[in-house]
Amino acid sequence: MELTLPGWARLPALLRWLRDPAMLRRAALAAVIVNVLLVVTGGAVRLTSSGLGCPTWPKCTADSLTPTSEYAAHGKIEFTNRLLITWISVVVLVVLLLAILARRQVKLAVLLVLTVPAQAVLGGISVLTKLNPWVVASHFLLSIAIIAIAFVLWWRVRQQPAGQPAMAPALRAAGWLLLVLTAAVLAVGTVVTGSGPHAGDKGATHRIHFAPASVAQLHADLVMLLIGVTVGFAVLARAAGASQRVQQASWWLLGIELAQGLIGFVQYFTGVPAVLVGFHMFGACLVWLACLTVLATVAGRPAGAEAAASIGASAIRTVDQQRV
Ligand code: HEM
Repeated sequence: MELTLPGWARLPALLRWLRDPAMLRRAALAAVIVNVLLVVTGGAVRLTSSGLGCPTWPKCTADSLTPTSEYAAHGKIEFTNRLLITWISVVVLVVLLLAILARRQVKLAVLLVLTVPAQAVLGGISVLTKLNPWVVASHFLLSIAIIAIAFVLWWRVRQQPAGQPAMAPALRAAGWLLLVLTAAVLAVGTVVTGSGPHAGDKGATHRIHFAPASVAQLHADLVMLLIGVTVGFAVLARAAGASQRVQQASWWLLGIELAQGLIGFVQYFTGVPAVLVGFHMFGACLVWLACLTVLATVAGRPAGAEAAASIGASAIRTVDQQRV
C-alpha cells in the first residue's frame, strides 16, 4: 500500500510561491505602511498628552505589563502604540524570510529587522527620560529612516519598466538635493514640535527652549526652498527629456508639498490644533515617500542592471525547480 503525504507534496509549490519576488514586494510595502502607521499612532500619543500614559518601560507600570485602570485612556493609547511594534516585528521578520527565500535584498532586510529593537529601545528611553524632546524627535526621525529602508527594499524588488534610460547627472544631483532638503525640513519640524505645546505630555518639563515662532519660521523657509528646488527639478526633468515616470513623480511631490505646506500654515495660525498636527505628521510621511520616489526614479540602477538581476534570480529559481 502506498503512503500518501499530501502536506509534504504541497511543500515545493508553497516554496515556489514564497520565493516569488512579488511576495517580498508586498511584504516590503506592508513594512512601509505599518511604519507610517507607527508615526501616526506615535502622534496620537503626543497629541492626546498620553506620552507618560504608561509611566515606565518595558512594563506599563512598575507592577503591570498592560495599562491599569489608574492610567485609563492615556495608558491604552500609549500601550496601543507599544503593541504596534509587535506587528512591525512580525512584518519585518516576514520580509527577511521572503528575502532569504527569494535571494533578493537580504542585507537590506537584515537592516530592516535590526531597526525594530532600536526603535523599541528609543521609545523606552523617551519614557524613561520623561519625554525629553530631543529623544522624542530622534524617535520620529528613526521612523523616517526605517520608512526609507523599507521603501528602498520595495522599490528594488519592484519590477522596473524596461528600457529606462540613464539619467542626466544634473537630474541625479537635483534628486539628492531634494532628499537632503526634505530631511532638513523634517528634522527642523521636530524641533518646532519640541519647542511648542505638543512636545509629549502636559507634565513634560524638558521643552526645547527655542522661540517657537523663530523655529517655525526657519522650518517654513526651508519648505519654501524645497518647493523652489522641486519646481526646478520638474522643469529640468522636462527639459532633459526625462521619462514620464520621473516627470510625474516630481509633480506629485510638488502637489504633496503644497498641500502639506498649507496644513502647516493653517495649523500655525490656528494655534496648532491637535487634529491638524496629526494630519501634518501623516503628510510629512507622504512628502518623504514622494521625495524617495523621485530620487528612486533618477538614481535607480539602469534597466539593464535591474533586468540582469531579475534574470539571475529567475535562473536560480528555474534550477531550484529542476532540482525539486
Ligand atoms: C513640505 C512641507 C512640510 C513638511 C514635510 C513638514 C514636516 C514637519 C514635521 C516632520 C514636523 C514635526 C512632527 C513631529 O515632531 O511630530 C512638523 C512640525 C510643525 N510644522 Fe511642518 N512641515 C512642512 C511645512 C510646514 C509649514 C509651511 C509650516 C508653517 C509654519 C509648518 C509648521 C509646523 C508647525 C507649527 C509644527 C509643530 C507642530 C506641533 O506642535 O507638533 N510646517 N512639520
